[in-house]
Amino acid sequence: MKNKGVAAIILAAGLGKRMKSDIPKALHPVAGRPMLFYPVEVVNNLGVKKTMVIVGHKADEVINKGIMPYAPTLHSAFVKQEPQLGTGHAVLCAEDALKDWKGNVLILSGDVPLITKETIQGLLNLHAKKKAAISFISTIVADPSGYGRVLRDDNNSVMRIVEHKDANIEEKAVNEINTGIYCVDARFLFSGLKKIKKENAQGEYYLPDLIEMAVVQGNKVTCLTHINPAEVMGINNRIELAEANRVMRRRINSELMLSGVTLLDADTAYIHSGVKIAGDTTIYPNVFLEGDTNIGSGCVIEEGCKIINSTIGSGSVIKSHSVIESSRIGKNVSIGPFARLRPDSLIEDGAKVGNFVEVKKSKLGKGTKANHLSYIGDAIIGKDVNIGAGTITCNYDGIKKHQTVIEDGAFIGSDTQLVAPVKVGKNAYIGSGSTITKNVPAGSLALSRAEQRVVEGWVKRKE
Ligand code: UD1
Ligand code: CA
Repeated sequence: MKNKGVAAIILAAGLGKRMKSDIPKALHPVAGRPMLFYPVEVVNNLGVKKTMVIVGHKADEVINKGIMPYAPTLHSAFVKQEPQLGTGHAVLCAEDALKDWKGNVLILSGDVPLITKETIQGLLNLHAKKKAAISFISTIVADPSGYGRVLRDDNNSVMRIVEHKDANIEEKAVNEINTGIYCVDARFLFSGLKKIKKENAQGEYYLPDLIEMAVVQGNKVTCLTHINPAEVMGINNRIELAEANRVMRRRINSELMLSGVTLLDADTAYIHSGVKIAGDTTIYPNVFLEGDTNIGSGCVIEEGCKIINSTIGSGSVIKSHSVIESSRIGKNVSIGPFARLRPDSLIEDGAKVGNFVEVKKSKLGKGTKANHLSYIGDAIIGKDVNIGAGTITCNYDGIKKHQTVIEDGAFIGSDTQLVAPVKVGKNAYIGSGSTITKNVPAGSLALSRAEQRVVEGWVKRKE
């Protein structure tokens, strides 16, 4: 593997004060995944030998929710930093874990989710080529507020980095900033970190102070100035979080379009990282596709739909404003408009779920239709069943949920209530307006409504 001589440290112990949040900054989502997930994924894809994530503030929450639920196979170890005394101190916490490490150490921030593998490889290559002690990535921005500024001498060589809070007016005017992404020779890194002082505006051990130290000691410093600030920007507040989501959305959507998916309005297709969509599927505006969702080819997902952790088979149409959660939908199925599929619904090939139909924890067999205004909960429905308008499975007796079984080919007339547990046999008919409380044998007709009485001339007599 190419980067075997590299270990990675990802800093995620900070509180993220500027987020004004109870949730640790590392866990705030970008395209549906915690921002920390992305740099961990990038270093894994680079094949580095070792990855350590430094955690501190709400460490256990970050450990449990940061990476594991999304990619249990990503390898990373967690190191605790307690208390959090700054980025320099954070890296020093990994010293024990990297004892005897003679290679390079790649350092990333957990709050730079847009970073790509290509950029990091560029930094590693530059570092190796120049035989530097420390290399880092800078970028030029219009508004550098909050970031560390890169100060250069008359020959344009990097001298040091000054943090925003420590900078004077002249230094604040510099718009080349430190992105917080470094590659450092391990021996220089840990010996240098021990000498860093915290006499600065924040009283913290600043990792970027290593750069001045290297310059003073005559060690080589290289700087890669990235041309696209959007990729290397750190997220410190919710404005930057929204911006990162926008950039990530563009990235995900561009990839999908290039792979053959039509997005009618790429700016309003909110597709989570990791969602899979096959070619020739069309996504209308204001669609949300989230979590572990997989959509086949030739599907149409109309406006305002939300699909979470679900699979949609090829050729299916999800009409306007439908919500589908943790469900499986077969091929050539039609759902909606205004349908709601709650968790554990299975809709088999060619079935139809129409407007204002709610389905929960139920199976609808091949070719079965529930076209209008129904509630289907805890039901097992065979194939080619017709569920009339207004059918309700009465699945709850106030204490427990009960199952309704409807076998192949049955016809359920409109406005039927099926009081579960109850079973309707193969090809049976239920007359409209029935309340079914007993099993209906295969091939029979069940009717439970009162017989109609007609009183002729009643209206006239009333007058
Ligand atoms: C840091 C850099 C700054 C750079 C900017 C780029 C320092 C002192 N400054 O500033 O030069 O322009 O990133 O985004 O490094 N962290 C810890 N432990 C700590 C403190 C921080 O793990 O004790 C982690 C945070 O969780 C975060 C990262 O380090 O992921 C950066 O910390 P943050 O406070 O965001 O640093 P900035 O002020 O943005
Ligand atoms: Ca930051």
